[in-house]
Amino acid sequence: MASVTLEHVKKIYDKNVVAVHDFNLEIKDKEFVVFVGPSGCGKSTTLRMIAGLEDISDGILKIDDRVVNDVEPKDRDIAMVFQNYALYPHITVYENLAFSLRLRKMDKEEIHRRVIQAADILGITEYLGRKPKALSGGQRQRVAIGRAIVRNAKVFLMDEPLSNLDAKLRNQMRAEIILLRKRVNTTFVYVTHDQTEAMTLGDRIVVMKDGYIQQVGTPQEVFDTPVNLFVAGFIGSPQMNFLKAHLVKEDSGYAVELLGSKIALNEDQNQVLAQKGIGSKDIILGVRPEHTTVLFDSTQNAIECTIDVNEMMGSELHLHLSSKNGDRIIVRLPTVDLTKEQRSSLAYGNKLYITFPAKVVHLFDPETEASLING
Ligand SMILES: Nc1ncnc2c1ncn2[C@@H]1O[C@H](COP(=O)(O)OP(=O)(O)O)[C@@H](O)[C@H]1O
Ligand SMILES: [Mg+2]
Repeated sequence: MASVTLEHVKKIYDKNVVAVHDFNLEIKDKEFVVFVGPSGCGKSTTLRMIAGLEDISDGILKIDDRVVNDVEPKDRDIAMVFQNYALYPHITVYENLAFSLRLRKMDKEEIHRRVIQAADILGITEYLGRKPKALSGGQRQRVAIGRAIVRNAKVFLMDEPLSNLDAKLRNQMRAEIILLRKRVNTTFVYVTHDQTEAMTLGDRIVVMKDGYIQQVGTPQEVFDTPVNLFVAGFIGSPQMNFLKAHLVKEDSGYAVELLGSKIALNEDQNQVLAQKGIGSKDIILGVRPEHTTVLFDSTQNAIECTIDVNEMMGSELHLHLSSKNGDRIIVRLPTVDLTKEQRSSLAYGNKLYITFPAKVVHLFDPETEASLING
């Protein structure tokens, strides 16, 4: 069992490529932390520094209270699972699992016990005699995870372990990783570019961009209170809508004006804005597709839109709308309560009206892109 601490960790590759800037994070014992962000944001580099596969250019890395910057990977008590499985093709699954233990000159019976146990945990016992090429992608990935399990490592590192699997298998393996985590009950650091994976697996998620941490929090915190435009747009699917709007400060409190509509902000929002001394200004308003109220008739204060695309997703519709100003807005509309007439009215070119209550709106500064409320 172990905690992992990164203090001002930095990575500069040759030719002065700064892949990771000033990374600060304390991963608690038995915590499941996910690094998430677009390709190239420094996730793998950070993970590889924890594993000892990359030198740390600056800063301190600790496992428990021990500084491990200069400790060899094999002496860090860490196990890593890679996206491409990295299995040895010419030996059996059993030998793949046993390999690292044999290198350590572990007692034969102990090796056997651990291999059998890992195979059992992962449901691959019947494949122990096969070679990797005789396995499916999902089975290979289980063997790769098994190689980490047999080590009884203090920390599990996983770099996009599900990226090579098809969508259905990925969902299944994601659930299996949640179960695996319960069984091995150790510290996990998991890298993915997929926000759904991050949200479903992480106790906490670390959202990264361009080598910088953007936000650290529980999935719920990051979803509910994104600190900037990037996090707001990256977490959640379909992504949050962003609209040009104007914040107005009045005697009675703050309100947001956009597209002929006016939304009075609530008490909490008023309090934060007043405390920060924010005056009337242009803002970017964010609202999630699932938080938009759809109206079939014009009412006072509703925003008029035109339907561009109606995507039928089964239990809900994804409507792509455009405002009078040409803003693009996506809304999610559950189908269960729609009448036949309503459904048929949701066709290309028809008008639709939307509103949103104050509690679902996010407010961002157009210049700094920071949230005016969160962080
Ligand atoms: N060995 C390397 N040498 C030089 N630059 C690298 C090397 N590995 C990664 N990079 C660069 O560092 C940045 C972060 O890469 P990486 O950590 O692989 O991102 P991610 O895993 O988030 O996709 C990228 O700009 C990438 O091009
Ligand atoms: Mg990567």
